[in-house]
Amino acid sequence: TPLTIAIDGPAASGKSSTAQWVAQKLGVRHVDSGAFYRAITYLALSTCGDPESWVADDVLANAPRISWRLTERSVLPLIDDIDQDTALRDAPVTRQVSRVAQMLAVREWVNQMVRSAGAAVDVVVDGRDIGTTVFPDAQLKVFLVADSWERARRRLVQRLRRRPTDAEIAEETEELVARDAKDATQSAPARDAITIDTTTVTQEEQVERIVALARA
Ligand code: CDP
Repeated sequence: TPLTIAIDGPAASGKSSTAQWVAQKLGVRHVDSGAFYRAITYLALSTCGDPESWVADDVLANAPRISWRLTERSVLPLIDDIDQDTALRDAPVTRQVSRVAQMLAVREWVNQMVRSAGAAVDVVVDGRDIGTTVFPDAQLKVFLVADSWERARRRLVQRLRRRPTDAEIAEETEELVARDAKDATQSAPARDAITIDTTTVTQEEQVERIVALARA
């Protein structure tokens, strides 16, 4: 069976960058499950009208436009065969994605996409429910946590490419905490997950730790 490593955790806990780096060190592909939630949300923004009235059937009508292909390092989600990664990180998508992620039919669709990738190749997958629901038999499950202020600070540094002010961090913290609350149902760690608090750990150290666990 292919190798599957699950890396879960709350918003901006460093899952994606960690998963990417771990995958690279192990020579396997990275799958960002959140990108599929973002992709279907991105399409809903242009085809489904007012987000307040979105329903799963309308949102999922766009699913055939989303696919994935293998690159050397990742399973890359495509919209109409095009990589839209930058647009998927935009604020309008981030604001609505948790709404879409609450729709069970959407979750089933994402799970299918991600499982089909994991059946094809060895993967490190990051998300909220990878170790609990998508790949309950993953060989290694990691749950990343970090202080919300620190998560907000890191996300802003990444976005602004400068040192954020305390006011900016405070605002971002509020957003992250609100999104965590909306994502709470699907965000519990698996019973057999190893929790790593990354608040005071460098990314390099946390990657090394996970790679060591994977090789053990
Ligand atoms: O990096 P960040 O945690 O901010 O976002 P992401 O991983 O791209 O996930 C975006 C959103 O997708 C989350 O806020 C969840 O609502 C949803 N999501 C989910 O419900 N389950 C997953 N396995 C992955 C993402």
